Amino acid sequence: MKVAVVLGTRPEIIKFAPIIRILEREAINYFILHTGQHYSYHMDRVFFEQLELPEPKYNLGVGPGSHAEQTGKMLICIENVLLREKPSIVLVEGDTNTVLAGALAAVKLGVKVGHVEAGLRSYDRQMPEEINRVLADHCSDLLFAPTEKARQTLLGEGIADEKIFVTGNTIVDAVHQNLEIAKRRVNVLDELGVKAYGYFLVTVHRQENVENERRFRGIIEGLKLVNKEFDFPVIFPVHPRSRRQLKAFGITVNCVRIIDPLDYLSFLMLESNARLVLTDSGGVQEETCILGVPCVTLRYNTERPETLEVGSNVLAGTEPNEIVKKVDFMLNRERCWPNPFGDGKAARRIVEILREKIG
Ligand code: UD1
Ligand code: UDP
Repeated sequence: MKVAVVLGTRPEIIKFAPIIRILEREAINYFILHTGQHYSYHMDRVFFEQLELPEPKYNLGVGPGSHAEQTGKMLICIENVLLREKPSIVLVEGDTNTVLAGALAAVKLGVKVGHVEAGLRSYDRQMPEEINRVLADHCSDLLFAPTEKARQTLLGEGIADEKIFVTGNTIVDAVHQNLEIAKRRVNVLDELGVKAYGYFLVTVHRQENVENERRFRGIIEGLKLVNKEFDFPVIFPVHPRSRRQLKAFGITVNCVRIIDPLDYLSFLMLESNARLVLTDSGGVQEETCILGVPCVTLRYNTERPETLEVGSNVLAGTEPNEIVKKVDFMLNRERCWPNPFGDGKAARRIVEILREKIG
């Protein structure tokens, strides 16, 4: 077996890390192909350094661009690498343009595709991620569904039962592996001058939110109201796309503390000690659910409905008053829900399935 791990963005590095650790430890023949979709130090390198991941064998350096430009460049470069390396399977994780390009390049060459985090659906085709995840699933030979619900979704789309494996989500593995290390190593609460359970944490970066002026203004206004109403500091590590759009729309951010994106251990510490998290991130909806932290999602739908069902998360959308209402609602909810995303052994299961099915 020869495995090509194709990744390119922050969440893919974090969620692939538990799998890469096993591949490395067990001397399985594999290599990492980084598309370079994310390239700034605090969106990319910091995670390799902190999670002690091996260097990618290839970095395609694709960088930013329109969807077609970015995905097209990746397709051409990934195909070249696959022709040279001849892996027996390409693994992709999640729903980014890197995932679409990796899956499509491989399937067209007749190379098997394994999709980690298969079967998620927001049913919102306005989201680039929804297109990517649907297409990646339908290109895949092995679909690693995080939950039974995801498996049912795939079956409902006509994907054969024998291709689907419910493994749990590797984000649980990542949280379990890193939370204790974070407690020992990072001091981010002191550095920011906040107390445990005495602040709100925010992340916002979705294209449909931050590229839409009305929505982005609504979110920022909502954060200001939340700060006034509940009197907790609001900490916002800003994704580079969002920073660019704040500037482009001339949005001023008072009452909210804007900081650079954080390394994983610092973010995990800040997340696990937050009174509440407001986000449009997929991974953050999962992590808050796992960590027992209430989450208010700044979107109108989610491909993580399990979080709504167990009660860790509510959808608020982007209107300021609705955001305040949903924060109030979640602050009054008891923090005791089951974790629907697995037992922290997803990576182990995925590697065992690869061994059995690919050899
Ligand atoms: C991408 C994914 C999204 C995922 C997110 C994780 C797609 C379509 N979107 O969105 O699903 O949730 O990654 O964070 O694949 N930029 C930098 N430095 C970087 C990366 C980006 O400055 O290291 C800036 C550039 O201006 C770039 C913009 O952010 O144009 C957007 O980056 P891009 O990778 O296209 O999309 P994300 O918003 O990061
Ligand atoms: N994250 C991080 N630093 C930050 C913000 C997020 O390390 O400043 C981590 C977070 O813990 C989660 C992942 O990044 O594991 C989520 O990535 P993102 O929100 O960029 O993408 P999405 O999950 O929405 O695709």
